Amino acid sequence: MKKINIAIDGPAGAGKSTVAKIVADRLTYLYIDTGAMYRALTYLAISSGVNPEDGVKLKELLDASSIQLEVTEKGTDVYVNNKIVTEDIRSSEVTNLVSIIASHREIRETMVQLQQGMAEQGGAVMDGRDIGTHVLPDAEVKIFLTASVEERARRRHEENLAKGRESDLYILQQEIQRRDELDMNREVAPLEKAKDAIEVNTTSISIDGVVERILEIVKERA
Ligand code: DC
Repeated sequence: MKKINIAIDGPAGAGKSTVAKIVADRLTYLYIDTGAMYRALTYLAISSGVNPEDGVKLKELLDASSIQLEVTEKGTDVYVNNKIVTEDIRSSEVTNLVSIIASHREIRETMVQLQQGMAEQGGAVMDGRDIGTHVLPDAEVKIFLTASVEERARRRHEENLAKGRESDLYILQQEIQRRDELDMNREVAPLEKAKDAIEVNTTSISIDGVVERILEIVKERA
């Protein structure tokens, strides 16, 4: 079967990374978590004291740094300048700043180029917000995952508790809503469904159900 590219977009907590990772494993494709790249830059900005509003300084920081993704059994390990930051980039400090960092045109141009390079050979399952619209507009399969805000907050809450992190369901709901607003209303490459994307609402479908649906679509197109 020909190796195609699969774009999976949608808001925070819709299940993108879980689904994308399983689909990639089932097809022996490469899973690329683009949100982790924006999170890595956010981590770098915090630790270097760069103002999150300053797109030019952020671009300089990005150009001077290396961000690497390494696929593991459990997900993706993330390295910045060869230091592992997989856990650090999931902190609430990073989570609450990342949408501001990701809004700058200067840094999105570089990120998109890096991401396009990673999928050049085909055989990539890439998740994010602008994959079907900007990064891989020619992807053979485009999926737009959604779920209600309540359900997405509940999933994050359970994930936090399972990992022994502190968590407050009400605060999570507010943070998710705020992030949705920033991601959907930014000027550059906002979160939106590509015209040719298939929307899958995951509120009441199991992960396995979503994966099977995507694999069927892939079979038809590959
Ligand atoms: O998927 P995530 O929650 O790890 O993404 C973190 C943030 O990065 C998200 O709030 C918006 C931004 N992002 C983006 O702007 N474009 C992408 N392709 C992926 C993520």
